[in-house]
Amino acid sequence: MYRMVDLITKKRDGGALSAEEIRWFVENFTAGDVPDYQASALAMAIYFRGMSPRETADLTLAMAHSGDVLDLSHVAPVVVDKHSTGGVGDKTTLVVEPLVAACGLPVGKMSGRGLGYSGGTLDKMESISGFRVNLTTEEFMSQLKELGLALAGQSADLAPADGKLYSLRDVTGTVPSIPLIASSVMSKKIAAGAHAIVLDVKAGSGAFMPTVKEAAVLAQTMVKIGKSVGRKTVALISDMNQPLGFAVGNALEVREAIDTLKGGGPEDFREHCLHVASHLLVLGKQCKTLNAARSAGEAALADGRAFDKFRALVTAQGGDVSQVDDVELLPKASLMETVPAPKSGYLKEINAREVGFASVALGAGRLKKGDPIDPAVGIVVHHKVGDRVGKGEPLFTIHANSAERLAEARAQVLAAHRFSRDKVKRLPLFYKTIV
Ligand code: URA
Repeated sequence: MYRMVDLITKKRDGGALSAEEIRWFVENFTAGDVPDYQASALAMAIYFRGMSPRETADLTLAMAHSGDVLDLSHVAPVVVDKHSTGGVGDKTTLVVEPLVAACGLPVGKMSGRGLGYSGGTLDKMESISGFRVNLTTEEFMSQLKELGLALAGQSADLAPADGKLYSLRDVTGTVPSIPLIASSVMSKKIAAGAHAIVLDVKAGSGAFMPTVKEAAVLAQTMVKIGKSVGRKTVALISDMNQPLGFAVGNALEVREAIDTLKGGGPEDFREHCLHVASHLLVLGKQCKTLNAARSAGEAALADGRAFDKFRALVTAQGGDVSQVDDVELLPKASLMETVPAPKSGYLKEINAREVGFASVALGAGRLKKGDPIDPAVGIVVHHKVGDRVGKGEPLFTIHANSAERLAEARAQVLAAHRFSRDKVKRLPLFYKTIV
């Protein structure tokens, strides 16, 4: 009915695609009749020309309906979900979802893989041997009913169009686009059926939206789409100027998430998770106030219920739970080097994007579609912005499986750390809430 080349040139020249044209593209791309190179060209045209709110909503709905759109009303009266727009060291889902489920509120989550320099929940969870993310619709629904927690990726059944476009955007420089991010995130959320959604919209050097202002536009776009399809949606704008927590890299992040689920973990990361979880618990009407929700979350971390839920999730999806019980069994890199601070001073920046790129170059992310992920590699920073560091103190540790890549990462991560002689203020965790 349409020719793909006409849609690409129309968008390239600044035109608006009709709902019909968008549906046609999504259907034919999903069916394999639009090749990757034409879909990538359209993504690049959208990146440069943008989309109107109407086009963005049409793209979101077409992608959501490229597979099943789940009706969870028979599973539970309220099912919630959270989604991050992508960050460095952002392992929030691994803690928040079991934590909220452990508080009695079912969580049905559809996640993504690494995207550009940001990590992805699916890649992280696959560091656990055997963990399956390609759940069928039936598996997703029945696990959600029995366990109150399921974590799936895009599949032939669920948001397949996003699965395909996502893997192209990852490697074609077309990630940081408001219509592409909004449609990618919200198509997954709509397809997976959650009634209430908390969006963790990142702003900063390691986010796809560098400023709070741009992040707010993305947040408003997604909240509006969510509400237009009857989902309660709230967005939290959070800081992504430095890695969240300390660990960056798949198995390293699983390890840090497990520490946090056991009541430890980095202070900023634990606080971030409790804040996101509190919003979910209030939005899902499990708790009346954010304070009550926070107490419920703290209790579930302290008494082991959140950790037990994570364990149960890993077991239900075929993962080797012995790696959860003993994190030493998670994949480990053959080379480890701790790099000392080259001078004394206050840390004024740990550029998250540069750390993210270093982690991808070590093998934790993809440079080409389908590249294998090395689950073991990554970086552990030892400080946060605002810390005073003495010359020679450990600054960060690289985990690598190649000496050459280790040397490159050492230089990159060292350059990402910037010092000041004067005292530096700590970065906030959150900037604002958009309802
Ligand atoms: N997360 C997604 O699912 N999609 C994006 O485009 C960015 C973050």
